[in-house]
Amino acid sequence: MIIGIVGGILQGMEAVYLCKHAGYTSLVIDKNPKAPAMYLADRSETCDVLKEPERAKQIFSECDAVLPAVEDLEVLEFLDSAMKEVGKPFLFDLESYRTSCSKEKSNELMARLGTPIPQPWPECGFPIIVKPSSQSGSIGVSAVKNEEQRLRALEKVAKLNDTPIQQEFVSGKSVSIEVIGNGKTAKAYVTTEVVLDSNYDCKQVVCSSNILPEKDDKEFVEIGKALGEGIGLKALMDVEAIYTKKGLRVLEIDARIPSQTPACICAATGINLLEELVCSKLGKESGKVRKDGCAIYEHYVIRGSALYTCGEKEFSHVEAPEYIKDFWGADEAITDFKTGKYEWRATVIFTGKDYQDAVHKKKQFIKNAMDNCELEEYIDRTPEMV
Ligand SMILES: Nc1ncnc2c1ncn2[C@@H]1O[C@H](COP(=O)(O)OP(=O)(O)O)[C@@H](O)[C@H]1O
Ligand SMILES: [Mg+2]
Repeated sequence: MIIGIVGGILQGMEAVYLCKHAGYTSLVIDKNPKAPAMYLADRSETCDVLKEPERAKQIFSECDAVLPAVEDLEVLEFLDSAMKEVGKPFLFDLESYRTSCSKEKSNELMARLGTPIPQPWPECGFPIIVKPSSQSGSIGVSAVKNEEQRLRALEKVAKLNDTPIQQEFVSGKSVSIEVIGNGKTAKAYVTTEVVLDSNYDCKQVVCSSNILPEKDDKEFVEIGKALGEGIGLKALMDVEAIYTKKGLRVLEIDARIPSQTPACICAATGINLLEELVCSKLGKESGKVRKDGCAIYEHYVIRGSALYTCGEKEFSHVEAPEYIKDFWGADEAITDFKTGKYEWRATVIFTGKDYQDAVHKKKQFIKNAMDNCELEEYIDRTPEMV
């Protein structure tokens, strides 16, 4: 099975990782010959699909299915129509994406479906979150405590030429779940915890069976299924929520392959969401059963004599990475480490029978990395480094 992956940065690296674990051949297509996923994939093609549409279609016709790993609407629209011509499975749902890429539209959908979401301003009172409707990756998001700050946050959104979403600031654990739908029914898979750095960028994902109490986990699965069916999902989406004292509050849905959480889920449970998506498109069952285990997934950047934990934006600057098994005690890594290098990055995965077990491996890895590279500091806080 050859999977064409269009886009070679974070989602692209994720997709290549999932291909490796599903036993699929990965073929990454990117206009940038140095896109990091190109180095990890079994095959790569440098191609700007919008400038060379015929060549792109030729490449897609050699694949058994194509997965977009980009969020550029023009590219997604091209791929949607190109794949209809090529006549091969397209692992994407453009219609659901059009709803999910607008928080305004998805909030309307969620309100209609009765999904628990943060209360809108002004009913909720301060503090609130002000965020642009159509951006992603926490761009333009502000936490706001008073009217003066609210006006400034609105200006920030206006500068992005976007519509503001103003809603209750909810606090608690950030959790995520993936949903796969076939247009009629949808299934929600595995809950993960997403740990953010000081810029709201995700620096760590944890997958284990007790991220949420059983009752709330069941509710999250039901919310995911209802959202997938409500939107008429024909591919994969993720649902992001905050687990507050009053229960789950859904922040957003995104109908595309996410980065980070699927790899962590695959390492912890053996469930491979790309394989599930391919099977769903082909009308088959993967037959995979969730195994009990834990995984911690993290990004690091090493600069000079310090080891920092970092967000995925920082990790995306990795250059010509390799996939390594058993990297100084970590189960798996994607890294551009070379002996003596001043600056390098790594995404590492630690697995264990439970959280303590995985944390133990992580501590061992940090010690080994510091010893091997003669590092002086370990800094687990991420100031703006992008
Ligand atoms: N209502 C809210 N209350 C608290 N934090 C929020 C709220 N909305 C967003 N955030 C924070 O901002 C981050 C980005 O917001 P999100 O809605 O996920 O947009 P995107 O990821 O598309 O930029 C979230 O991960 C969360 O940490
Ligand atoms: Mg988000």
